[in-house]
Amino acid sequence: MTTILVAGGASGIGAAAIRAFRLRGDDVLLADRNAEAAERLVGEELPGALRFLAVDFAEAGAASAAVTAAVELGHGTLDAVFYNAAVLAARPLAEWTAAEWDHSTAVNLRAPFLVCQAAAPYLVRAAQGRIVLTSSTGALRGHAGMPAYHATKAGLVGLVRSLADELGPQGVTVNAICPGWVDTPFNDAYWAHQPDPAAALAALTDSIPLRRQARSDELSGLLLFLLSPASGYLTGQALVVDGGYTAV
Ligand SMILES: NC(=O)c1ccc[n+]([C@@H]2O[C@H](COP(=O)([O-])OP(=O)(O)OC[C@H]3O[C@@H](n4cnc5c(N)ncnc54)[C@H](O)[C@@H]3O)[C@@H](O)[C@H]2O)c1
Repeated sequence: MTTILVAGGASGIGAAAIRAFRLRGDDVLLADRNAEAAERLVGEELPGALRFLAVDFAEAGAASAAVTAAVELGHGTLDAVFYNAAVLAARPLAEWTAAEWDHSTAVNLRAPFLVCQAAAPYLVRAAQGRIVLTSSTGALRGHAGMPAYHATKAGLVGLVRSLADELGPQGVTVNAICPGWVDTPFNDAYWAHQPDPAAALAALTDSIPLRRQARSDELSGLLLFLLSPASGYLTGQALVVDGGYTAV
C-alpha cells in the first residue's frame, strides 16, 4: 500500500490521476483550494482511501500542512508526491504587476519546492520514494501574455534536475511531466486572451499531429508508471505527452 500526496487535483489531470491511484489501491491525500470538487471525489467509492485538506498553495504554510496531513494518512510514512497545482494568468506585458507575478510564482514554483522540501525526509525512508511535478510543454515554448506561466513551468524542469541529483543517492526519483494541450477549463484565460478564440482553437488543433487536445485521463498511465517500481531507474527527466505538438 502506497501513500501519495496530490497537491492540486480536485479537477482535470489531477482528479483523473487520483482515480487511477485509488483504483490500484493507493491511499491519497488531496490538498487543493477547491473544496466543492474535492468533496465530490472523496464521495467516489474506490479501493484506495482519499482524504482532503483545503489549502491555498499561494500561502507559504500550505506546503508543510499538506505534507503533515499526508504523513498522518500514511501513519507516519509518505511514499510519493505529485505536485500538480498551477495558475494561468494571461494579459499584455504592460499590464502585469509585481503582485500578479508573485502569485503565479508562489503557486507554480515556490509551493512545489516547499512541498518537496517538507516531504523529502519521509520520501528517503520510503522503499521507492517518488516526486513528480507537473510542468508543461509551456516549459519548451512560449505564448504572448503568459510570461509567469512559461517561466514557472520552465523553472520546474530545473527544480526537478536539482532535486534528482540531491535525492538520487537516497533512492528518491524526481521527474516532471509536460502535458501539451489538455481539454480542461484551465486554459480559459489563454483562450480569452486570443483575438478570435474559435479560430485559434482550430489552428491549434490543426498543428497537433493527433489533431486533438488530450483528455484529462490521458496522463494517468504515465503517472501510474512514474509512481511505481517499474520506473525505478528514471529520474531527472521532463517527459512530454502532447500528441506530437512539440515534435513538428
Ligand atoms: N490543461 C492543459 O492544457 C495543461 C497543459 C500543460 C500543463 N498543464 C498543467 O496541468 C496541471 C493541472 O491542470 P488541469 O488542466 O488539470 O487544470 P485544473 O484547473 O483542472 O487543475 C488544477 C488544480 O489545481 C488546483 N489549484 C490551483 N491553484 C491552487 C492553489 N493556489 N492552491 C491549491 N490548489 C490550487 C485547482 O483547484 C485544481 O484542482 C497544471 O499544473 C497545469 O499547468 C495543463
